[in-house]
Parts: sequence; structure tokens; C-alpha cells
Amino acid sequence: MANVSALNPASPTEPPRDCPLCPRLVAYRHANQAAHPDWFNGPVPSFGTEDARLLIVGLAPGVQGANRTGRPFTGDFAGDLLYSTLIEYGFAKGHFDARPDDGLMLVDAMITNAVRCVPPQNKPTPLESNTCQQFLKARFSAMPKLKAVLALGRIAHESIVTTNGLRRSKFAFAHQASHDMGSGIHLFDSYHCSRYNTNTRRLTPEMFHAVFKDIRAYLDKA
Ligand code: URA
Repeated sequence: MANVSALNPASPTEPPRDCPLCPRLVAYRHANQAAHPDWFNGPVPSFGTEDARLLIVGLAPGVQGANRTGRPFTGDFAGDLLYSTLIEYGFAKGHFDARPDDGLMLVDAMITNAVRCVPPQNKPTPLESNTCQQFLKARFSAMPKLKAVLALGRIAHESIVTTNGLRRSKFAFAHQASHDMGSGIHLFDSYHCSRYNTNTRRLTPEMFHAVFKDIRAYLDKA
């Protein structure tokens, strides 16, 4: 069995389609492949180009969203607010139609997930988050112009902090907080744009826009 807790310094930026590292997620993938052979059902690749200055890090693919369509935040509710906001703040162009072939293009931005495979009940375990950090680390290294990172939710925030060799105690997650991570990269935090958070108004569109306003102002000065 693979040593799931080992970080591999030579890790690729994207896990292989049949990534074997997390047994529970592999079992869930196989169950979804059997039930829905027409779905993507694999580690969802990052979306955007590596010369972007902004990296957005979500939690993990939604089962009927990115796990079905193969593009982050595409096909479930969370993407509606995210992509409309990206268009509004100039980080995407075109028309978002919740399909990977809708022609939408990111501008100076890339979207990835802290955990690349869909977890049962949308909840990765701490070990699964740790195991997947090798791909996030490689993703950072492969973005030479990176200046801003947006963490969507606390788990993404913690993965980003740990991946960058920083101490969690020095970087507290809070909505609309921003942190200088050193090496010219700023971390911005937002509550996750999930249906639950927006329905309960823990995150309103105004609160989400405020974070993007900060990111845009920061990048315009950088
Ligand atoms: N879809 C994703 O790709 N990531 C999330 O965090 C939520 C939905």
C-alpha cells in the first residue's frame, strides 16, 4: 500500500487520474464510477494558466459538481457565486454556464482544490488533506508570477499555510483577513461560497465581493 503520509518532493502539480494515495477516497471514486460511469470521477485538475498572479483554493470537488463535470466549482451551487464574482472583478471572461465547455476563461487566475478528489459528505479527513498537500505545494512552485492566494474556507487556509512551511498559530483564519506569507505572496481568506454558507447568510454576496475588492486592489498595486 502507498505510504499515504509521505510528502513527495517530486510530486506533479496534478495527481494521476487513478491516484491511489487515500484509500477512502479511492473507494468512493470506484463507487461513483460504478453508479455514474458518465461522470468525470477522478482528481479534478486545476483550471486556469500557471502564469496567473492569483490562485484560488477551494476545499474539494462536490460530488455532483466538479466530480461530475471535471472542472473546479462547475455544476453545483458553489460555482454560481464564485464565477459571477470572478467575472465582475475581471478574473474571468465569457459566460459561465456550469459546463466545462461553456467557453469561460480565467484571467490572471487559477482555481484548484486543497483536496483534489471528492470526499464523502464533502468532508476530507485531516490525513487526506495532509496527503494531498504535496500537489498544492507543487502547484505553488509551478506558478512563477504568483502574488495572491485566496483560501475558500478554513481547511483550504490551513493547507495553504502548512504547504508554505508556515505556522498555523501565526496565521489565523478569518473572513476578509489577509496575511503576508513572505516571498512576495499574500494570503486572503473568505468563508467558503457553499450553498450552506450562502443560505444561512454566513457569507453574503457583499461579503464575498469585499474580499475580491481587496485582492483586486492588492494586485493593482503589486
Ligand atoms: N467545487 C469545488 O471544486 N471545490 C469546492 O470547494 C466546492 C465545490
